[in-house]
Amino acid sequence: MKKKFKVGIIGNGGRSTTYARDFALFDEIQVVAIADPCTENSDRMLQVSHLDTSALRRYSDWRELHEKETDLDGVVISTPNYLHHEPAVAFIRRNIPIALEKPLTTSMGDSEYILDAVREHNARLIVGFVLRSTPFYRTIYDLISGGRIGRLVTVQADELASYGVSSILSRGLWRRFSRTSGGTMMEKSSHDMDILNWMTNARPVSVNSYGGRLVFRPNPMLPERCADCKLKDSCNYYSNPRFDPKAGDAILHKFLREGSGECIYNVDKDVFDNQGVSVLYSNGAVANFMLSLNCSGERSGRNFHAVGVRGRIWGNFSDPEIRLYDNLANRVEVIKLPKISSPHKGVDSHPYELLKMMKDASYRPEQDAYAGYLSNALCIAADLSAGEARQIHFRYDANGYVTFA
Ligand SMILES: NC(=O)c1ccc[n+]([C@@H]2O[C@H](COP(=O)([O-])OP(=O)(O)OC[C@H]3O[C@@H](n4cnc5c(N)ncnc54)[C@H](O)[C@@H]3O)[C@@H](O)[C@H]2O)c1
Repeated sequence: MKKKFKVGIIGNGGRSTTYARDFALFDEIQVVAIADPCTENSDRMLQVSHLDTSALRRYSDWRELHEKETDLDGVVISTPNYLHHEPAVAFIRRNIPIALEKPLTTSMGDSEYILDAVREHNARLIVGFVLRSTPFYRTIYDLISGGRIGRLVTVQADELASYGVSSILSRGLWRRFSRTSGGTMMEKSSHDMDILNWMTNARPVSVNSYGGRLVFRPNPMLPERCADCKLKDSCNYYSNPRFDPKAGDAILHKFLREGSGECIYNVDKDVFDNQGVSVLYSNGAVANFMLSLNCSGERSGRNFHAVGVRGRIWGNFSDPEIRLYDNLANRVEVIKLPKISSPHKGVDSHPYELLKMMKDASYRPEQDAYAGYLSNALCIAADLSAGEARQIHFRYDANGYVTFA
């Protein structure tokens, strides 16, 4: 019989269900422990995933799981962003492979705390940058790194988030406060900052950003709660917002126990609903990124356009194909993307990555702690730039740690 790897899942909210559903299908994995202070969420995760619960131990906090589960082979950490660093470092110190959700943490100090531990223990850790595994970004990356458009010059990328995602970001329990989420840029677009770093294959050297809240502003004409509102039929955010089935995040909504009944305009929050970020890279490439909530329909979601000295590549994340223009040939090539069935367009590679790390002690995924660190640095620098209306310069020490100037 194949060895069963014993896995714990810390934080049993919306994101954990993706892992749990896959683990339920893996012969080689047995989820032996879960931890969450919210029993309702743990129950829902178990129900949605059909995990085998015969030998499952449940805890109300990650610390208890960490103390009592002394024989784990791997853990998933999918707690809110501000609660990533403590469990991550605790398990790194025990040399247990970790699938840690993005973003790495919410501050430079906490990110360095993880990075120090990863380096000291040569840890096996993957950060939840699932976009890298999607056919869309993987194909673009392969074309760029294969030289099809020559040296990369500029990138224009955006994330025009749907009503469902906008609702989660602007009225989710911990997402709507920068103290707990790190801000909208970090919560939503740590993915995109990682993609820019990966595609440019260089380090960010300076950042300019503007942003704020223009859509979900307090409105004295509206009540505090949807139940008291007359705009039931004309508000996209009435109670539970409409979901773009392609967004693949409807499941997350089931985990928003509170908040969905509060008016998205009047609910207390401090996060942005729009932000533009401009990044200069160490190799001279320039990337522009735009995040805007409250978007739907054609060309919403994620768009990406890379310009090189020999041509261009562009596409929308929901399209089945991307396009490549060759300057010399003066011709557009349509490149069909491989089909995948995952509702989250490729995210499901992360449970496999955890399995690979458990099986092979020498395996290290490319979405590592340093990728998480650089993505975080970009998000934090962007918010600093927007907040202080100035350009932020990155200074790297010999070990790759960043200070801002
Ligand atoms: N990679 C992706 O595509 C992706 C998608 C969604 C979310 N995420 C990330 O996953 C993480 C979780 O997001 P979510 O949508 O599941 O949020 P969520 O709020 O639905 O779930 C978080 C869970 O953590 C639990 N928790 C809080 N304190 C805890 C503690 N001390 N010990 C154990 N559990 C605790 C909460 O009770 C909650 O059930 C976030 O970091 C988020 O950014 C990543």
